Amino acid sequence: MRSVIDILDLTVDEIDELISTAEDMIENPSAYTEKCKGKKLATLFFEPSTRTRLSFEAAMLEMGGSVIGFSQASSTSTTKGETIADTSKVISCYADIIAMRHPKEGAPFVASLNASIPVINAGDGGHCHPTQTLADLLTIHREQGRLNNLVIGFCGDLKYGRTVHSLISALSRYENVTIILISPEELKLPGYIKYGVIEKCGMKYVETDDLDEVIGDLDILYMTRVQGERFVDKDEYLRLRDKYILTAEKMKSAKESMSVLHPLPRVNEISVKVDSDPRACYFKQVYNGKFMRRALILKLLSEAAQDPKKKESDLYNSENLINVIKCPNSACITTTEQEIDHIFRPIDKAKGIYRCAYCEAKEKYFNN
Ligand code: NCD
Repeated sequence: MRSVIDILDLTVDEIDELISTAEDMIENPSAYTEKCKGKKLATLFFEPSTRTRLSFEAAMLEMGGSVIGFSQASSTSTTKGETIADTSKVISCYADIIAMRHPKEGAPFVASLNASIPVINAGDGGHCHPTQTLADLLTIHREQGRLNNLVIGFCGDLKYGRTVHSLISALSRYENVTIILISPEELKLPGYIKYGVIEKCGMKYVETDDLDEVIGDLDILYMTRVQGERFVDKDEYLRLRDKYILTAEKMKSAKESMSVLHPLPRVNEISVKVDSDPRACYFKQVYNGKFMRRALILKLLSEAAQDPKKKESDLYNSENLINVIKCPNSACITTTEQEIDHIFRPIDKAKGIYRCAYCEAKEKYFNN
């Protein structure tokens, strides 16, 4: 039995298998209508959502299962001070699988450490969003016929855009993928993805702030919303939010075969006029997302039925720093969860570089 907190919790072979299952579900819908009969999904959404929550719920209902849950933290015991750890233990008594979205980075990981049922991360703060990545990968696969030999441009808020972080991590395992990072200086990719993923695996990448300059080179253009809710400085958000707007005019410079993706919701970063362009794939992405979530729920429930024992966590590995330093990231779950151990994994001990096990924020530590 295991959880999916990060896209790298799934191997490339497992992602291939999920894509095949999802494609089969699309082709043969009647073959799956009873697959989750008697099983319950709990959707624990502490942050707003339309697509992710409803697609998880539709996915479970379409497989004959049922759904319990909530869509806002204000209606739960969190308002009374209950921890994620306790909530997860409680929900494990009511459901067979959890999908959790939370504004604090690492919250679904804490849930997975405490629940006795599988937990799926449905988005944690500005950190990651693995099931959106599954939707993205199925869309790229269906539109371009491959997940390798691609030039992919990510445009907009690469700092707080959790869907970008997870998709880049996933793509780092495919052959010959070039990443073009298009953002203003203030919204550049965080170090744990730029250095910890892209540079570590030797992926080719380019950074620019000019969409027009690179749009003609792209197989995929992944547009994103500037994540207003995560800015500490609201004036900065107002200054940056309209930096990139994809228009029908700009699309004239793109390849005929390019696909435009966006995890949605869109604010104004893609003109509505682009929607009728056959290269606009963002509503197909929504459709595909439900099938990948169906495939994932089915896989995790089948694994849990075969082996209900929890996969051992490596959190208390002797290499890790345990309660030595505190996480510097104010959006990390360790800043609010009661009596949680502050755990840092070593990245480069000689240089004293460690990363928080929950949110991946970097901190320096020298033991002398
Ligand atoms: C994204 C998210 O929540 O991170 N939406 C989604 O899940 N499809 C993107 C966003 O909110 O901008």
